Amino acid sequence: MTIRSNSRHGRNESRTVAVIGAGYVGLPTAATLAHFGHRVVLAERDESRLAALRSGKMPIVEAGLDDLVAESVLTRTLRFTASAVEAVQGAEFVFLCVPTPQSDDGSADLSYVESAAKEVGEQLMPGAIVVNKSTVPVGSATMVEEVIGRPDVRVVSNPEFLREGSAVQDSLHPDRLVVGADDAQAAALVGGLFAATGAPLIVTDATTSETIKYASNAFLATKLSYVNAVAGLCEVVGADVRDVMLGLGYDKRIGFEFLRPGPGWGGSCLPKDTRALLHIAREAGYDFSLLAGAIDSNEQQLVRVVAKVEAACRGSVEGVTVAVWGLTFKANTDDRRDSPSVEIAGRLAALGAVVQVFDPTVSGEFPADGETVADDLRGLQLRADPYEAATGASVVVVLTEWDEFRWVDFTRVASVMASPSIVDARNLLDPAAVRRMGFTYDGIGRR
Ligand code: UGA
Repeated sequence: MTIRSNSRHGRNESRTVAVIGAGYVGLPTAATLAHFGHRVVLAERDESRLAALRSGKMPIVEAGLDDLVAESVLTRTLRFTASAVEAVQGAEFVFLCVPTPQSDDGSADLSYVESAAKEVGEQLMPGAIVVNKSTVPVGSATMVEEVIGRPDVRVVSNPEFLREGSAVQDSLHPDRLVVGADDAQAAALVGGLFAATGAPLIVTDATTSETIKYASNAFLATKLSYVNAVAGLCEVVGADVRDVMLGLGYDKRIGFEFLRPGPGWGGSCLPKDTRALLHIAREAGYDFSLLAGAIDSNEQQLVRVVAKVEAACRGSVEGVTVAVWGLTFKANTDDRRDSPSVEIAGRLAALGAVVQVFDPTVSGEFPADGETVADDLRGLQLRADPYEAATGASVVVVLTEWDEFRWVDFTRVASVMASPSIVDARNLLDPAAVRRMGFTYDGIGRR
């Protein structure tokens, strides 16, 4: 393994790049590379997504992405196409940023990666470098190399560490860059594309690079499971988790990031990648019980939040109206994949509650009668704002930490509720302030 300072050793020259897939990873990656002065062609086969991009509309909610894309389109460093084959014409680097959904057994489904590699394989220019940006199991670089079947084409693992909601910031200013390949020179060339970031560059083999990505996400998930478990402990011993986390965070070895307790960790990455890593470990005959425990603990967290809502409704939610604020898996994204908020709302509905939901990213998506059409929201009643959601409810459950929930008029909320009660699964609100307004308040690990 080599660690380099990318600014000193990387070559900051303009390269031709194709990015396949304009999703949560591909789009910020393409925009960032174009911003750094590379000539980027972004291939997206979904027609409506492509049309949106061409008309300057971002298909995902992501702060600053529209400006970054607009700037690159204007300077002609970024253009879009429906054809992956067209995108790779003349491209020195081809980034595969296609989805890797979960198979039933917990393993990653590589069919999109495989078919993208197959589709472009013959069309790659001589000596092209293919980059696996999607999170893929250990050994995938070799698999892609075999699918392409060309000795002149090298495959490099370059995992992405950006977070949804701050993808642009994370892409422009990454903490580190990881590139892995059997051919260290190819790996270093990929690192050079991001020289402008000045981030430390870790050059290693593909297997190690692929492992780094899973180990990072699994660590974050385990950290959060620990934090949520400590919050549960705080409740039984009478400690306040916010002060406990302050006390932990000032220890530089622990740090302040990822110390916020919540309703459980979710999203399209942490749940999928922890299960995938557990699957990889099992297949290899390795007992990763620590990770299994973190996953189990996350399920317990969902159960605990549902129990808090039941307790707020005197033991049962059956026939009770419950207001849910927030559906996305975290704030500042429109992503509801593997969202603890959606899961908890669904469990409450399954227990017989009338669940009235509001989320800033879904309002207006559905008919005014509140009947939802999206599969994951079936059985929930969508409302246009937090007040409508709270109308007639016995409890408001804050499940996503949207900042705007802090600034709601709680006197008005109390006046429209059947009885003023809040379960704050994100510790977003000030307990003293809402209690003063007559609410009962239950947070996570807070007094
Ligand atoms: C995660 C990683 O943070 C990224 O580094 C990685 O690149 C990405 O997965 C990926 O593999 O593509 P992301 O899924 O966007 O990013 O979301 P996070 O910000 O990590 O949040 C994950 C979950 O943890 C969310 O449900 C969030 O609400 C929860 N969380 C996060 C907490 O409950 N408390 C915290 O303090 C932080």
